[in-house]
Amino acid sequence: MKTLEISNLKKTFRSNFLIKKYPVLKGIDLSVEQGEIYGFLGPNGAGKTTTIKCILGLLFPDAGEILINSLPGNSIAARSQIGFLPENPYFYDYLNANELLYFTASLFGIPKAVAKERISMLIQQVGLAGREGLKLRKYSKGMLQRLGLAQALIQDPVCLILDEPFSGLDPIGRKEFRDLILGFKAQGKTIFFSSHILQDMEMMVDKVGIIINGRISRQGLLSEMVSSSTRCHEIICARISEKQLAQIPVHFVSRDNQFIITLDNEADINQVVESIIHNNGQVIAVNPVKKTLEDIFLNELREVQ
Ligand SMILES: Nc1ncnc2c1ncn2[C@@H]1O[C@H](COP(=O)(O)OP(=O)(O)O)[C@@H](O)[C@H]1O
Ligand SMILES: [Mg+2]
Repeated sequence: MKTLEISNLKKTFRSNFLIKKYPVLKGIDLSVEQGEIYGFLGPNGAGKTTTIKCILGLLFPDAGEILINSLPGNSIAARSQIGFLPENPYFYDYLNANELLYFTASLFGIPKAVAKERISMLIQQVGLAGREGLKLRKYSKGMLQRLGLAQALIQDPVCLILDEPFSGLDPIGRKEFRDLILGFKAQGKTIFFSSHILQDMEMMVDKVGIIINGRISRQGLLSEMVSSSTRCHEIICARISEKQLAQIPVHFVSRDNQFIITLDNEADINQVVESIIHNNGQVIAVNPVKKTLEDIFLNELREVQ
């Protein structure tokens, strides 16, 4: 079942008394299955936040359809199924975590008894137990981000939308936040998050949508994207001199007493292996090197520009 489905979403900004037009979303199509983590990847200015604002109803699209659990995105029933963490959430410095979460719960009309139980569970889950009484101005960026996640989950939504949730976090904060998101996925939440940081994507997403210049240039399961494509082959060899290797027209680097030869063309493998053996060298391994998300992303960027 699809939790989020967007088709032909278009948005143009206007300025100079509506004369100048800036088309930002040029027909976005994407779909997020229930229970998956969807990474919305794109360079700065590609249109990620604009897409998210349209999903949340903060911006009116010019065209297109947004469905949340098959409900029209602009309906109250659909909105109540979404929890949102903005890119730079603002928190009141002089509230503590408990007060902030009670306040948010009251905005959603959650009865006090239900709120009490949910807040203490969420505080536990995001690793803030024992710190809930501390004023937020004393929180680190990582703690605030985790509190933001608890806030987004207060009405127990089916889908979490996170805009650049990793920006500004240090490596430990990123790891903690990643583990938290994976934990919420294990509980059955669907997670849609935007990022321009490839490593975060590669470590946790099921599906990737690459947005460039207001268009989805590629969408698919990460496992299929990276495993279906071999970037090159590596031949690891030893007992051969650099001089001998230089006679075989290949690109190589040395590591310890070994050489790593990179071949773009699979058809060249046999010939190179034979040359190494002919020179009394030792072939240790021939490895296909899979494309990484970075290769795929950079390739998409090159094709568009
Ligand atoms: N309210 C607005 N008015 C005019 N242009 C905007 C507005 N919001 C965003 N933009 C422009 O739309 C483009 C996409 O922005 P955004 O969706 O924030 O990108 P991303 O989140 O992918 O970095 C940018 O060029 C940005 O300057
Ligand atoms: Mg953005």
